[in-house]
Amino acid sequence: MIRVGIVGVGNIASMLIQSIHYYRYSGSVKGLIHTFIGKYGVGDIEVVYAVDVSKYKVGKDLAEAIFQPPNLVPKLVDIGLTGVKVRMGKVLDGVAEHMVEDFTPSDEPEPTADELVRELRDVGVDILINLLPVGSSQATKFYADVAARAGVSFINCIPEFIASDPKYQELFMSNKATLLGDDIKGQLGATIVHRALARLIAMRGGEIVESYQLNVGGNTDFKNMLEQSRLHSKKISKTMAVASTQSNPYETFNKVFAGPNGYIPFLANTKVSYIYIKALGFMGLPVTLDVKLVVDDKAMASAVLVDVIRLTKVLNDLGIYGAPSWASAPYFKHPPTLTRSDEEALQELYKRLDEYGVRIEPKYSLW
Ligand SMILES: NC(=O)c1ccc[n+]([C@@H]2O[C@H](COP(=O)([O-])OP(=O)(O)OC[C@H]3O[C@@H](n4cnc5c(N)ncnc54)[C@H](O)[C@@H]3O)[C@@H](O)[C@H]2O)c1
Repeated sequence: MIRVGIVGVGNIASMLIQSIHYYRYSGSVKGLIHTFIGKYGVGDIEVVYAVDVSKYKVGKDLAEAIFQPPNLVPKLVDIGLTGVKVRMGKVLDGVAEHMVEDFTPSDEPEPTADELVRELRDVGVDILINLLPVGSSQATKFYADVAARAGVSFINCIPEFIASDPKYQELFMSNKATLLGDDIKGQLGATIVHRALARLIAMRGGEIVESYQLNVGGNTDFKNMLEQSRLHSKKISKTMAVASTQSNPYETFNKVFAGPNGYIPFLANTKVSYIYIKALGFMGLPVTLDVKLVVDDKAMASAVLVDVIRLTKVLNDLGIYGAPSWASAPYFKHPPTLTRSDEEALQELYKRLDEYGVRIEPKYSLW
């Protein structure tokens, strides 16, 4: 079993917990990126610890907490009670002013870092996953420090620079824990599709002159991102992910616009993305491309997360600590070192796992 703790019992947590149950008991492997990583299937993941700050979630069993407002993921499977009670967290900058009525902070006393370190050890958590709202800079650092001190591995799903910060790489290395991040990619989300198209253009000799990726959705993730001051690292993460596919990433960075662009409540967890690229091809003649992508935003993230959790555990079992970039690159928008294509990143992951004698199934290749 892989014993996982979650910080932020929001929509991704709900989809993740339901998906573990679904894959464990249905016997299906449809829709998974990898069925096995090492000896682990998705059903081997167990969420044993959870932290939130909402008065509707704190104190409740996880099975009930994931369906409390403002979560929107419907009940897809019946998971029964889990025996895991959501504990109160430290609010810090997790709740933006315009989100107080949505995230409804509880009056329960906040824990100290020492208390959380002790609990992570007592519960025997292997991996802590950061699922806080975008812009939670202090809160992310607080929980990352707690995980490192407890010797617990950390997966940073949000666009705060932790795995890509040498200070945290060393901190996790010295505490013999593994760190993966930053900012999780979707299974077939806007970033990976935008990157694939941009890479194809570069591979065929074209040059991007302008490109945008507009995203709208109707969940608290999108509502939270209405506050521009919380978006700084999100924009860097998304834009650099696309620019890094080109031979001149820093020049291309200024020609790409990628970010969240609106909150439309009726869309709920449906995310709509519009990707536009104008490139110059043969003899400088223009090529333009427009794509509309419609996905379930939380399924996209959870599909990648079930891979990342198993990979983190495999690395930890092998004694690979700190933040190996080759492990983060296929799965995160802002890994410690950016890669030119997701194909290259995936092949590098396969090569490294082969060297360590770790099986990963199935293996994909585009070309
Ligand atoms: N496709 C995707 O969904 C995707 C992709 C990349 C990154 N992300 C990021 O993952 C994160 C989680 O997404 P989500 O849709 O589950 O978010 P969400 O808004 O549904 O949930 C956030 C949760 O965090 C809780 N919270 C707020 N402050 C807290 C604190 N200080 N301590 C503990 N809990 C706190 C809230 O009460 C809420 O339950 C977001 O930052 C999102 O941008 C999502």
